[in-house]
Amino acid sequence: MQLTTILAALAAAASVSAHFSVTTPPSRGLDELIEDQAPCGGFNTPSTTRTTFGQSSNVTIRLADTNSNVYVKIGYGANPTSFATTLGSTFYAKKGVYNLPFSLSAVPASNNGQPATIQISINGSHGALYQCSDVTLSL
Ligand SMILES: *[C@@H]1O[C@H](CO)[C@@H](O)[C@H](O)[C@H]1NC(C)=O
Ligand SMILES: *[C@@H]1O[C@H](CO)[C@@H](O)[C@H](O)[C@H]1NC(C)=O
Repeated sequence: MQLTTILAALAAAASVSAHFSVTTPPSRGLDELIEDQAPCGGFNTPSTTRTTFGQSSNVTIRLADTNSNVYVKIGYGANPTSFATTLGSTFYAKKGVYNLPFSLSAVPASNNGQPATIQISINGSHGALYQCSDVTLSL
């Protein structure tokens, strides 16, 4: 490999190594190389297991980017591709582990007991990145 090729590969690796992960509720999957692919970081198939999710649940992330706007959104049904309802958004200047504030007050009561997907996205110093967690709503 030529030096320029190696340097380009290193630069690409550095730019994607900054990322975030979702620990709760469990993410569908994380691959840093495709985490920038909307809407679910490149994982387009829902998990076979779902986590019960309600207002007292935690949405916990490990953030490895600085100066990030972090969004919690929801899509309804077993395999949503649109995440139009924002449940919360917060700015974090520093890397760290955070429990994200969110509210389910905008979620219609008819969704109680139904499947949904929580999309967590960040827009930070390395652009937009996405993760999805498949849940069953307990409103
Ligand atoms: C949410 O996180 C907090 C802080 O880590 C913890 O004390 C609490 O038990 C968690 N709640 C649930 C429902 O897991
Ligand atoms: C991310 O932030 C940039 C700069 O503010 C903005 O132009 C872009 O639209 C944002 N992207 C998303 C997906 O929010």
